[in-house]
Amino acid sequence: MIFWKLFFNSNKKTRLEKNTDSQNILLIRNLNNKNKIYNIYLSTTKNINLYELEKLCDSVGWVKRPLKKVKIALENSFLTISLFYYNENKKKLIGFARVTSDNSFNATIWDVVIHPDFQGQGLGKELMKQVIKKLRIYDISTITLFADPQVIKFYRHLGFIIDPDGVKGMFWYPL
Ligand SMILES: CC(C)(COP(=O)(O)OP(=O)(O)OC[C@H]1O[C@@H](n2cnc3c(N)ncnc32)[C@H](O)[C@@H]1OP(=O)(O)O)[C@@H](O)C(=O)NCCC(=O)NCCS
Repeated sequence: MIFWKLFFNSNKKTRLEKNTDSQNILLIRNLNNKNKIYNIYLSTTKNINLYELEKLCDSVGWVKRPLKKVKIALENSFLTISLFYYNENKKKLIGFARVTSDNSFNATIWDVVIHPDFQGQGLGKELMKQVIKKLRIYDISTITLFADPQVIKFYRHLGFIIDPDGVKGMFWYPL
């Protein structure tokens, strides 16, 4: 599979906002999805149900990963963002993204996903905006990600550019 390394290099200094990472933030009130109304919440807690996350990744056809390794990846991520709604007091995970970072200059976004039942309604865009907003709070200005070819347009809309100044993403894999 071909990946494109995309960069978001923000020279615009946004206001350093106070970190307001309380547990569950109401992100979208009364989202009308297929004639059902949902309140969509955002959380940055790393205490994520791994089976729910696996189900979400399965729903978009991603290759299964060992949950033990996923758990370590989450614990060591700089930021994780989940989107969910409540159904009978149970959280239903419908969106996710996580970020690794050197906590200063650079951050890389991974595992951006919206459940197919909720795609095409601006949730992916909102999720990415929240990720960028939170990284800018830490004054991180070089944000990169690896995009499947079919979602390059999605990221371009958000200000990401391919190969700035000819810089190429390179990979090393064990043989
Ligand atoms: C990519 C993904 C996160 C987008 O989420 P979404 O909620 O459907 O996207 P949104 O509704 O917020 O769309 C935002 C904008 O991007 C566009 N867009 C969304 N998906 C797109 C795609 N696959 N190709 C091109 N444009 C796309 C929308 O038309 C919309 O444009 P607008 O701002 O002009 O209206 C979602 O489709 C997904 O989870 N896909 C499967 C997993 C995946 O491929 N993740 C990325 C890994 S690199």
